[in-house]
Amino acid sequence: MVYSYPGPHIGSRTGAVVRRRAVRTVPADKAAALETLIRGSWAPNAIYSLCRLGVPDALTDDPRDAATAADLAARLHCNAPCLLRLLRLCAAYGLLVEVPRPQNTVRGGGGGGCGIHGSGGGGRGAKGDCAADVSQSTTTDNGAAERSEGTLMQAAAGDINGSGNGSDNGGGGGGCVCREAATSFHLTETGLMLQEEHPSQMNWLALMLGLPGHYVSRGYLYDNVKEVGRMGFEAAFGTDWYSYVGRHPLEAAAFDQAMTATSAAAAGPVAAAYDFSRHATVMDVGGGQGMLMAAILHRHPGVRMGFVMELPSVVAGARRMGQRGLERLQYVEGDFFQPFPPPRVDCIVMRLVLHDWPDAQAAAVLRHARAALAPGPGSRLVVVEAVLPEAVGPGAVEAATLQQLEFDMGMMVMTTGRERSLSEWEALFAASGFRLEALMQPDCAKLPLMVVRPEPEAEVEAAGGEEGGREAAGGEEAGGEEAGGEEAEAEGEPPQPPAPDSVPVP
Ligand SMILES: C[S@@+](CC[C@H](N)C(=O)[O-])C[C@H]1O[C@@H](n2cnc3c(N)ncnc32)[C@H](O)[C@@H]1O
Repeated sequence: MVYSYPGPHIGSRTGAVVRRRAVRTVPADKAAALETLIRGSWAPNAIYSLCRLGVPDALTDDPRDAATAADLAARLHCNAPCLLRLLRLCAAYGLLVEVPRPQNTVRGGGGGGCGIHGSGGGGRGAKGDCAADVSQSTTTDNGAAERSEGTLMQAAAGDINGSGNGSDNGGGGGGCVCREAATSFHLTETGLMLQEEHPSQMNWLALMLGLPGHYVSRGYLYDNVKEVGRMGFEAAFGTDWYSYVGRHPLEAAAFDQAMTATSAAAAGPVAAAYDFSRHATVMDVGGGQGMLMAAILHRHPGVRMGFVMELPSVVAGARRMGQRGLERLQYVEGDFFQPFPPPRVDCIVMRLVLHDWPDAQAAAVLRHARAALAPGPGSRLVVVEAVLPEAVGPGAVEAATLQQLEFDMGMMVMTTGRERSLSEWEALFAASGFRLEALMQPDCAKLPLMVVRPEPEAEVEAAGGEEGGREAAGGEEAGGEEAGGEEAEAEGEPPQPPAPDSVPVP
């Protein structure tokens, strides 16, 4: 089936002058596909709501622990009819299983049936599950229960004893068939991952993406593109992301936990993909809490010392958590826009650091990395980042590519950074004294890994240049063990890791 619509007036809103055919016909299947795209999905909002209400932690994947919407609403202090509808959508997404319950457990008894939102009776049914715990429930509209800074809070109290304002399920004196008690729900294996303590930490990812900082700023993509140099996030909130999360601890916690979870998932595959044991010393720059470095050290006993260079506040937090049980791991405070603190190392890793920055800043970080690599042919930089296609040709793109292109929108509205294509990466490396040597796709990892080699000519330039790293920072003058180490390297000996307490704290 095709349908037609007149063309000329379409687009007049933009003021653009375009030549159009008077009438176009559009195949219905293409229109349907486009409509699906335009409508998008409620999934992020639904899963966020499910998590923030606390549903995954109130259930298990055991059908014997299944609970009705009425039960859950009473326990989680939220609106049962609305919850039921949300649970059903999440069941359709494959996160929950909805199971019908026998009729005799569904009817509210004697006094008033399903009083949670009903208008009649007021008393509890003798057996009616839907009336159980009704005294704990509320009759407020959406969002009665608030998860705020990690706790469940009742945001607004409503009528709690069955005489409330709901109208669609109220039971009169003779009991009712209560929709919210007619079925019960348990988690699927996928839904189980949404529990707060699940190692996947998907709960936090769902929270992060559903909270206003992320969700609202998406709505400002147009403003971001239209207004040169203004981030969508700033258009939405009048400030930048880091200032914003400073005032919104739940968003800060969700962001930190979600980042930690994705790092944890990536650590093993990245450590396995590249032979880090070629290097005696490895430094993860912007390495967060050190999960990737810990995985590298576990997998490669040949790496004598692993360093994680981070901002002082991050290092303080990581140190509080201990050294991840590894003597060979050391945190170093530093700012990657300044020459790196010693020691020079044989290999620098950067995961999801450069995409946070526009080209000029990313190149500055890379030049400092170049200067911090030990001289010699064996030194390498390992960059773990998305690689976008050079152009998106006709036909469907892979799901992973689509996700990266969408992620690039997130980078655009929330940061000054960007995802990059291979040629953009190559240009950035070339501008900073590096050359791409290999592009690898680790098994079970989302992001590719780029092995990058320092250019020999740049070595000289980096050492003498304005941003000459440790030299410019007075590293050699500082003398001591580092200076001795460099002399040894210059004579062809492998670089020596410093004693654990010899790394100065800037
Ligand atoms: C997107 S996170 C990536 C963290 C980690 N590499 C990972 O893969 O999960 C960027 C990291 O860069 C760190 N960072 C930001 N600015 C920095 C700076 N100027 N110097 C050092 N680290 C910085 C942040 O603290 C953060 O941990």
